[in-house]
Amino acid sequence: NRVKNTVESVNPLPAVRSKVESNVPLPLLVRAAHAYNRALRTVSKGARQPKFVEKPIPDGATVPLADIDMSNPFLYRQGQWLSHLKRLRDESPVHYQTKGPFGPFWSVTRYEDILAMDKNHTVFSAEPYIIIGKMPAGLDLRMFIAMDPPKHDEQRVAVQGVVAPKNLKEMESLIRSRVQEVLDELPIGEPFDWVDVVSKELTSRMLATLLDYPYDERRELTEMSDLGSGLPAITGGDTDVDETFDAGVVLATKVLALWKDKSARIAAGEAPGFDLISLMLSDPNTANLMDRPMELIGNLMLLVIGGNDTTRNSMTGGVYALNKFPDQFAKLKADPKLIPNAVSEIIRWQTPLAYMARRAKENTVVGGQHIRKGDKLIMWYSSGNRDERHFDNPDELVVDRKNARNHIAFGFGVHRCMGNRLAELQLRILWEELLERFDDIEVLEEPEIVQSTFVRGYSKMMVKLTKKQ
Ligand code: HEM
Repeated sequence: NRVKNTVESVNPLPAVRSKVESNVPLPLLVRAAHAYNRALRTVSKGARQPKFVEKPIPDGATVPLADIDMSNPFLYRQGQWLSHLKRLRDESPVHYQTKGPFGPFWSVTRYEDILAMDKNHTVFSAEPYIIIGKMPAGLDLRMFIAMDPPKHDEQRVAVQGVVAPKNLKEMESLIRSRVQEVLDELPIGEPFDWVDVVSKELTSRMLATLLDYPYDERRELTEMSDLGSGLPAITGGDTDVDETFDAGVVLATKVLALWKDKSARIAAGEAPGFDLISLMLSDPNTANLMDRPMELIGNLMLLVIGGNDTTRNSMTGGVYALNKFPDQFAKLKADPKLIPNAVSEIIRWQTPLAYMARRAKENTVVGGQHIRKGDKLIMWYSSGNRDERHFDNPDELVVDRKNARNHIAFGFGVHRCMGNRLAELQLRILWEELLERFDDIEVLEEPEIVQSTFVRGYSKMMVKLTKKQ
């Protein structure tokens, strides 16, 4: 009896159940946050997000250093990000920018400096945000990517089982069959949009599996993720924040239903599954997340956004890069054993998330520059991965590059990407199945590139397939 009592007293499920059953109105909370955001936007100019107007950006080599604005969301779309980052790496590797709508920040652009900073979470905090700007009021969800230890560690431990090697092994055949399904239906010899038909479709299938989300409604996950990463704070655009809140209500309603269903099943003695919500319900650190709804939504959104834009854009970026470097495509086709290395190289070349932001917790020095406590620093992974001090001919894709795995597209230290193995697995399977079926994946025109400071992604890329003889 003593054992039974002890188990019951540490088992968080009854408390969670009673909370859920007493109708924690998660969707209503999102609506309340929305109303708060609307009211703030009406009364305070400061609550509105800065908007950027697109103008042609000159080559980075010709811009005075003091005028370089790394927060311009058109740098990437106009192809000028490379010249700007190279200029900074060569002439001002830890560069203080005072102009720009997001306020002053440091840009850290060399590989070694980024690595040293990312490993040092005691001096460089990931709180409150990992983006240059700040999230709109009411949408400043709490996610462990923007938390420091110990809270970060508690929450990460609770969910990382979803991508643990054992789970990945179980998922491998499912992922392969889904990749095969999608590829077998592709039109041959006819133009189609690779982003929509392949990259988005495959990532939404994977996310639905991780969350055990209703499979037929899986595209909702991609749409929600797009709204999350399409926020004006990230794109400098004028996307409708109201739409994001509306999508938040849909997600909240679905999450609440999933949470209730799974907690009831576990309470009835069913073994918990290996999806995210079951894992959260089975861990004392996260079982009561329904009591902290913004944290719950935040962590689910983290998985959705973290797993979506990144993998999707590596799927598109790989095809694009291999078209730009046809000799490398030929090398890969001739020797498919190169696929795992090529996957790392594609992720380095693409670097789907351009940066992570940090705040200095104390006065410190980075790359010889004195940084003050409270300063904002941006670690430009997109620059570190193109640093000629670390990678030979860094702008080229080289499928058998010796140090491809040393890329920093997954970050480093306590926040190192939780889904890195899953992303690599997905991309490896995709390329294995592609090379089995097709002789060529021809990119027909320059892809459309998203407007963002943060996501290096594609919104459309027309391709044509040639079947393998
Ligand atoms: C964190 C990149 C795929 C989930 C991160 C970070 C980066 C990143 C740069 C922050 C690292 C840091 O601050 O040091 C990527 C890239 C991917 C990818 C390039 C694909 C090519 C995924 C997938 C998932 C995922 C598939 C979901 C299963 C996460 C999570 C975090 C994270 C949960 C937060 C980790 C923490 O704060 O401890 N990712 N990611 N990512 N990623 Fe990924």
